[in-house]
Amino acid sequence: MSVTENGRVLPSGEVCPFTRYEDVNIAESAPGEHQEIHDRMREGARVYYGVAGAESNPFWQFTEMEDIRAAYQNAKVFANESVQPTMPNPPFKWIPEMLDGQIHTRWRQLLSPLFAPAAIDRLRPKVIQRFDDIMNEIVAKGECDYVADVALRFPNEIFMDLFGMPTSDAEQFQVWETAILHGAGTSGDTAFQAMMSVNGYFAELIALKRRQPGEDIISYALTWEIDGEKISDEDLLAFCLLMFMAGLDTVAMQLSYSMYHLAINPDDRAKILADPDRVWPLAVEEFLRYYAFVTPGRKIMADVDFNGCPMKKGEMLWLPICSANRDPKAFDNADRVIVDREVNPHIAFGAGPHRCVGSYLARQELLIGLRGWHERIPNYRLEPGTKVIEHGGQMGLTNLPLIWDKK
Ligand code: HEM
Repeated sequence: MSVTENGRVLPSGEVCPFTRYEDVNIAESAPGEHQEIHDRMREGARVYYGVAGAESNPFWQFTEMEDIRAAYQNAKVFANESVQPTMPNPPFKWIPEMLDGQIHTRWRQLLSPLFAPAAIDRLRPKVIQRFDDIMNEIVAKGECDYVADVALRFPNEIFMDLFGMPTSDAEQFQVWETAILHGAGTSGDTAFQAMMSVNGYFAELIALKRRQPGEDIISYALTWEIDGEKISDEDLLAFCLLMFMAGLDTVAMQLSYSMYHLAINPDDRAKILADPDRVWPLAVEEFLRYYAFVTPGRKIMADVDFNGCPMKKGEMLWLPICSANRDPKAFDNADRVIVDREVNPHIAFGAGPHRCVGSYLARQELLIGLRGWHERIPNYRLEPGTKVIEHGGQMGLTNLPLIWDKK
């Protein structure tokens, strides 16, 4: 079997097309371009074989809903030991995302009650209050950069509440978050320094909560035991870091894509606002489907034959959710946003044992954030002449300049 620039020649004689991670996950693009690249790849083939840079291990890539969902559900063969196709042997372990088997199940049992609907519903008044406070600051201005001024701030503040952190640190947190996750174009040093700062912050916070426990996730986690053992500070730190990456930027980017869509599609906005109670929840699901941006990978744990492709133990598999969510075999009119789509079995929150723990909270934040904005500012538009930029890495929008008429 051989690998060529055009692909990998399979035992059957067929060629599995070749891909380069850098060509798919580009540093800068126009909004939605990443998802469109994945659309084109899905139209081209069901499986790809590729590399990320000269030194990297090869990885496979699925493009269709059925295959992607099945891989997420087959955790024995496709494991979370590594979730980045570019990095088969990472020197870190995010908890619980990069755990497998029994230990992962134990963490989920501990975490799930904190994010269950009943627990999140108790937070609801505070979530609404946080969003109102942000809106109170911006409504009279007539303009904002939605990403920086609203989308990044809102989930950040909710996260700080959940983790018992003072919201006076929210601004600093936002700077670190941007450096770590949206650092394309800046030096790797900046992201690394920010990561070290976040590490240091959480280490101090864990020590503080040990001395003065409160009603927050870290204080609860300090009481947890797994197989009779308290959780080590090292694991608690790895858990805080994962929550930081999983809970803040995801909601912020989902809000940003949704508002981008609504800013340039006034007809969709009118359709929602004509029947808000019914259509907002459907629209939130449709934006989750159409503008999905989480693209995890899995490590292959055994030699497997997939549709004639000989996948080897130790290789990586990339499973971009945006590709699954826009697969025409899974959705009617998959390439169109239908804000009142009734049947919508998307996998924006993943599938299988690692399906998003925070999905109920995320949905609440999206509903409160999008509906709350439109109750205060129903008419707005993109600021003419400014370019909206999408970044790669952790895919998302870099800016979203909006303007509206001041009352
Ligand atoms: C729109 C917002 C969000 C999206 C699209 C999203 C998406 C996802 C996806 C696709 C996964 C699965 C990753 C994989 O299979 O490798 C995941 C896992 C996870 N998410 Fe979310 N997420 C969102 C918001 C949140 C929030 C608000 C929280 C908590 C505050 C959260 C916490 C987690 C955790 C802890 C995991 C790891 C679960 C595990 O490994 O068992 N997420 N998320």
